Amino acid sequence: MSYISPIDGGAELSTAEFQAIAAILHQEARISLAPQKATLVRSRLAKRLRARNLTSFGDYIALIRRDTAERKIMVDALTTNHTHFFREKHHFDHLVEEMVPYWRTRGSRDPIRIWSSASSSGEEVYTTAMALLGRDLREAQWAKSAHVQLLATDINADMVAAVRRAEYGKAGLEQIPQPYRKLWTRETKDGFTIAPEARDMVTPTQLNLFERWPWRYQFDAIFCRNVMIYFNDEAKAELEMRLINQLLPGGVLYIGHSERFASNARTFMIPCGHTMYRKPEDMR
Ligand SMILES: C[S@@+](CC[C@H](N)C(=O)[O-])C[C@H]1O[C@@H](n2cnc3c(N)ncnc32)[C@H](O)[C@@H]1O
Repeated sequence: MSYISPIDGGAELSTAEFQAIAAILHQEARISLAPQKATLVRSRLAKRLRARNLTSFGDYIALIRRDTAERKIMVDALTTNHTHFFREKHHFDHLVEEMVPYWRTRGSRDPIRIWSSASSSGEEVYTTAMALLGRDLREAQWAKSAHVQLLATDINADMVAAVRRAEYGKAGLEQIPQPYRKLWTRETKDGFTIAPEARDMVTPTQLNLFERWPWRYQFDAIFCRNVMIYFNDEAKAELEMRLINQLLPGGVLYIGHSERFASNARTFMIPCGHTMYRKPEDMR
């Protein structure tokens, strides 16, 4: 049996133990872990072993098999939450330059509903809010009158709490171009927060993408970015078709810069730029 040898005196992680943890993570979140991630798994879970007074990964695996709460903590510890404001800016340009005029002329009385489906700590959804509110107060009138509703979901409860808090460090401010920064952020002692106009548009909720989705309505736009890379092709294919079904005809799906469709779901969609796809108007 091979082990990830600890240099820090912590517990060793055997290949079989890594595989057991990977299988549980896959079952819980459909995340696939390559064998190269063993060192990362060992270091991220070492803290949990200490917190639960355990000395071996064998004991930890027995614990997560019987303890739902610890299993969720393990999933949280093993998810990658890297994100930033105005990441892949061309998506927000498209939203404002192509989708807003489309929604304006559509003239529906329904609110505009946008889903940030793996929102991490909220930078993506607050960028969406700021982009829609615009660069001057006059532009902001549309987002307000269209009753834009932004839903931010993530499997990780800590990330959902971070979206709700909407507090960010100073470094994040650099990612936000002026004049959005001036209009839609407020300085705090340790960094900044998001202006109430943008916060009020956002509803954060915990959701595993592979569970049942509770909405009866469809979305005008869905961001599903930089999360599919963690799933295998089978999981991706399942998710892709569900995302398309959850989009309104004419709606848009944004995916991450290094992501590609794994299924023929792609053939139903109309490419409208790098990593963005419109759902045909005649597809329900
Ligand atoms: C790398 S972040 C991407 C954040 C943002 N979408 C972006 O592009 O900057 C990936 C997020 O996906 C979430 N995630 C992973 N598996 C998930 C699942 N099965 N259901 C919902 N969220 C998941 C993680 O918790 C993490 O916050």
